[in-house]
This record gives sequence, structure tokens and C-alpha cells, in this order.
Amino acid sequence: MRLSLLCTLGIYFIVLCAAEEGLEFPNFDGRDRVLDINERSYKKALRKFDLLCLFYHEPVPANKGLQKRFQMTELVLELTAQVLENKNIGFGMVDAQKDAKVAKKLGLEEVGSLYIFKDDRIIEFDGELSADTLVEFLLDVLEDPVEIINNAMELRAFERIEEDIRLIGYFKGEDLYYKAFQEASERFQPYIKFFATFDKSVAKHLSLKMNEVNFYEPFMEEPVVLPGRPLSETDIVDFVNQHRRATLRKLRAENMFETWEDDMDGIHIVAFAEEEDPDGYELLEILKDVARDNTNNPDLSIVWIDPDDFPLLTTYWEKTFKLDLFRPQIGVVNVTDADSVWLDMSNDEDLPTAEELEDWIEDVLSGRVNTEDDDDDDLEDDREDFEEDLTEYGDENLDRDDDLYD
Ligand SMILES: *[C@@H]1O[C@H](CO)[C@@H](O)[C@H](O)[C@H]1NC(C)=O
Repeated sequence: MRLSLLCTLGIYFIVLCAAEEGLEFPNFDGRDRVLDINERSYKKALRKFDLLCLFYHEPVPANKGLQKRFQMTELVLELTAQVLENKNIGFGMVDAQKDAKVAKKLGLEEVGSLYIFKDDRIIEFDGELSADTLVEFLLDVLEDPVEIINNAMELRAFERIEEDIRLIGYFKGEDLYYKAFQEASERFQPYIKFFATFDKSVAKHLSLKMNEVNFYEPFMEEPVVLPGRPLSETDIVDFVNQHRRATLRKLRAENMFETWEDDMDGIHIVAFAEEEDPDGYELLEILKDVARDNTNNPDLSIVWIDPDDFPLLTTYWEKTFKLDLFRPQIGVVNVTDADSVWLDMSNDEDLPTAEELEDWIEDVLSGRVNTEDDDDDDLEDDREDFEEDLTEYGDENLDRDDDLYD
């Protein structure tokens, strides 16, 4: 017994020693970096850091289990702070009760949210609160809000972007018009990507005129030209706000809650498709076609979820929506009660064609397909199932009786 334990320890030790360097995941080192923000400390914190990241939370609960949950959130922030230690980002906790005054002064509104202060702007983080997602998000916020495209290679990279909303403007240099574009970009960083070029051949390739700005909706091949030029900051901001809800948008960890809250009159059309799975890929291509055909329909927005991106949510979705997520699915979800209906794609060979999908979407938008119609049937279905079960049970009993008399 002891020998085997020693052996196990020995093997463990060898494995540890043999581990190569270069892939060491950060572990919380135990040093507290997250500040307790209060009336005395908040101004100093704002001055001191390039970014200040504040978690606005409910008072710490008395219940042990809930306390653990709170501590887990705190740990996410601690680990993020540790990983980004040399980036001059401050982290802090603001208690909704104890620090109510500070919260008001800072303009924090939603309890349970994370707010990032950059210069004189507030950015709300509406994504999954995990260290991976948060680190990536904060690094994006640290960057310049406008990326300059100087050459053909950068242009190709720009053209490969598909999932983001992006704008590109052509300017003479860092003049007033460029400044207006830059100011507008700051309002949307890091959710909407802004690019600019001062290069004539890049502009020519994109058919951009001087001081013109193009808007690319996700998954669209052709951009929309912003009307008028030169454009003021307000022109650009208004246009983006109006066109922000894309016809096809991908659910992403960095802003998943924002996307989900932006529903269409209480519902979402949701497509589950794994891009790396042949069926999923196929459905996605069909969806892109449908989106391109219907890009001017302001009532249509399809949320595409790649289950691969959300391993922790997959079983929850399967249970809530009664789905098999190993296959692509498209349906309607009521965001109030998570009630849903899904397009029947049980015939393995046949994904719907773009036309069939468009017909179905039309039915959804007109209300012919909805989550409510079957609500009474649900009860009936349950009763039928129950009766069937009873009959089966009866049959079994009969069989048993037969056995008895044999
Ligand atoms: C969503 O569900 C709620 C609660 O069941 C219901 O009142 C509402 O009408 C539904 N919305 C739509 C658009 O079906």
C-alpha cells in the first residue's frame, strides 16, 4: 500500500520534473491586486491607471455557498489583474450598498456588471466573466481605436475579417475629418472595428473616395457607403447606431449578454451550427446567403451560435431547448421564458435550401411560426404520452400474467 503510494508520488514527481517550459498556465499567486474602491480611493485610482476596471456588485452575501460564488468572481479579477500586471490596468470592487455614493458618481448602473474607464469614457463589459475573455477584451480596449491600413498585406487581413462590424475611411492624413472618425471610433471600441487608410492604392482597391467611409456588416461581401462626405463625428455615430444590429450576427463571449438583450420584440431566431462540422458549415453558408438576400430587412436578425465556442453552455442549451446540438439547428426562442420551437431537420440528408429557410423565416416574422401556439398542446402531448405509458405498462402486466399461467 505504502509502496504503491510512494510509486505514484515518484511517478508524479518525475512527470513534474520532466515538464517542459513554455506552457505554464498562470495560477493565482495569492497577492491581492484588486482594490476596494471607496470615496477616498476612487479618484486616485482613476488618475493612476490607463484603464480602471470596476466590478459593481451586490453586498457580499451571508450564505456560505453564495460567498463562494462571489469569491470565484473575485478570483477571475485577481487572475486577470495578475496576468495583465505590467499593463497599468487597475481593478476594483464597488459594493452597491456600502459604496452607493461612489457608484452614483461614477455612473455605475447595473449591479453585477463590469465597467472599464478609459480616458473620460465608460465601457461596459457585457460578456462572459472568465479570465480568458476578460484579458482579451481589455487588451483590445488598450489598443488604439483606429487601425491604419498601409499596404496590401494589411488590406488582405482586413478583407478576411468576416464576423465583425467594421468601418474604413480614406483620409488625406491626420486631419480634422480623420479626427472626427477617430472620435466616433472611441464610442464603439472595442465592439466595432474602425480602420483608416491614407494610402491611395489601398483606397483605390476598396473604391473609396477621399473622406469617404464604408460600413461592412458581418458576413456581407459589399460595404455600404456612409451618405455624405466629409462626415462629422455625429454623422458616423448615428449611422453606426442605426445599422448596428446585423442580419446575421455571431454570439461571442466578449459581448454575449449585450447580443442576447438586443432581442426582436421578445424573440431571437437562433441557429446552432458548428463551423467545423460539415452539416454545420453547410447551414452557415445557407444562412449567409439568406442574410445577404435580406440585409435590408430591419426586422431580421439571426443569432448564430457555434456550440464549440461555449462548451460550458452546451448541455444547458440541450436541456432548455430540448435539442441535440451534435446537429445543426435553427429555431425561435422566446427570451422571456426560453420557450422555443425548432425547424424540423430530422431528415439527415436534407438541410433546408435558402428558399425554404427564407419561407420559414417569413413565417417567424409574420408570427405564423411562434413559440406560443403549441403551449396548450404541450399539456395534451404530456397527457397522451402518459396514457401511452399506461398502456405499455398494462401490456407488460399482461405479459407477466401470461407467464404466470404458462
Ligand atoms: C414570450 O413568453 C411570454 C411568457 O410566456 C409571453 O407572455 C409572450 O407573449 C411571449 N412572446 C412572444 C413574442 O411570443
